[in-house]
Amino acid sequence: MCSGRRVGPSTAFESAGVSDMAMTASSGVAQGAGNATPAGQAERSPFLRTTELLAPYQPAKPLITLSLGEPQHPVPDFIGPVLAKHIADFGRYPLARGIEPFRRAAANWLSTRFQLPRPIDPESEILVLNGSREGLVFAAITAARYVGPRKGRPAILMPNPFYPAYGAGARAAGCELIYLPTTLANGFLPDLDTLDDATLARTVAMFIASPANPQGAVASRDYFIRLKKLADRHGFMILSDECYSEIYTRQAPGSALECAGPDFTNVVAFQSLSKRSNLPGMRVGFAAGDRKFLSAFHELRNVAAPQVPVPLQHVAVAAYGDEVHVEENRRLYRIKFDLADQILGSRYGYARPAGGFCVWLDVSERGGDEATAVKLYRDAGVRVIPGSYLSRPQDDGFNPGAGYIRLALVSDSESTAEALHRLVEILD
Ligand SMILES: Cc1ncc(COP(=O)(O)O)c(C=O)c1O
Repeated sequence: MCSGRRVGPSTAFESAGVSDMAMTASSGVAQGAGNATPAGQAERSPFLRTTELLAPYQPAKPLITLSLGEPQHPVPDFIGPVLAKHIADFGRYPLARGIEPFRRAAANWLSTRFQLPRPIDPESEILVLNGSREGLVFAAITAARYVGPRKGRPAILMPNPFYPAYGAGARAAGCELIYLPTTLANGFLPDLDTLDDATLARTVAMFIASPANPQGAVASRDYFIRLKKLADRHGFMILSDECYSEIYTRQAPGSALECAGPDFTNVVAFQSLSKRSNLPGMRVGFAAGDRKFLSAFHELRNVAAPQVPVPLQHVAVAAYGDEVHVEENRRLYRIKFDLADQILGSRYGYARPAGGFCVWLDVSERGGDEATAVKLYRDAGVRVIPGSYLSRPQDDGFNPGAGYIRLALVSDSESTAEALHRLVEILD
């Protein structure tokens, strides 16, 4: 039996803060109905909530921000000239499916980077996205229409903690959100063995993030194979968020597409240049996989989704054709994870994550996540996110993010080391 079910508001975008769901940006304070209730709070941007939590305090030291997961390594040098060369294309409306060179570059990159059952077809198995976030939302809406009638109330499964776009997408799709707790005990990946047939029979889609945000867990080949079997047996979509796949310091993570069979049936992977190429502001990513699903996805996107400017797709062609800047990016993250290994050791349950750029620390013995976030901000000038702002309570009240803080190692190594030293000094 799935213990993670929790029913939220049924209307799309009904809750305050759903439109402010970015993990990488916090906009102005949006006060809306329902914020005062625990359910209302759960729907709001974790960044907005952190800003409000810390508002009454002044940092005692110059501020170091580890709360925003916004990559800050340099933008690759080749971006400017490529953009300049294609400026005239801003004069054209972009087609929803993306320009052919982009689809070819994305397909080539995927087929080279991963051990796919066969090369991806750029014509029918790639769709350009305006960053992966909007794609995840629109994919949930597409899945609810695409999979057809379910046995019971349609549901979308997601890890807990999770990237807020999954929840916004599931809600916009009119589905029940089913939260699958990811904890130290299950390796920070949803435990597939807890899913019963009745739940799976009404599942429209499952979001999976590998590497996971916030814990950095990476799904094994065996995990993806088991998930694919469940998806095929019960006819639901796997929406595999792989935007952190290029951020690792040891072994390259795999893709759900590697285990998706010859036609990638029921599997769509989401990629992005935000993390891989330090281009979070450029807003280019793509979806790849099941061609039938992508055809339905394209139909919806063609009338409803943001298009991707053609000059930016040309920049993306150059970015997917270059691995030098990606290796340099990994080198910079490796330096910071080496520092984290040295400075944190095994304190607060720290373990170097398999992927991503976040550190997930257990501070349950040190006053809990909110109190620790306040203390670090006020006394050490270090800004982090309380883990419970990234997760939701399960039906039984257990909140898998509570007691943790998330640190994003996105700034330079000096600031990162300074922040980690201050953290240890305050918490020890
Ligand atoms: C897990 C996860 N998925 C998706 C995204 C979306 O990134 P983008 O829209 O920049 O591709 C983020 C951004 O922080 C993320 O953390």
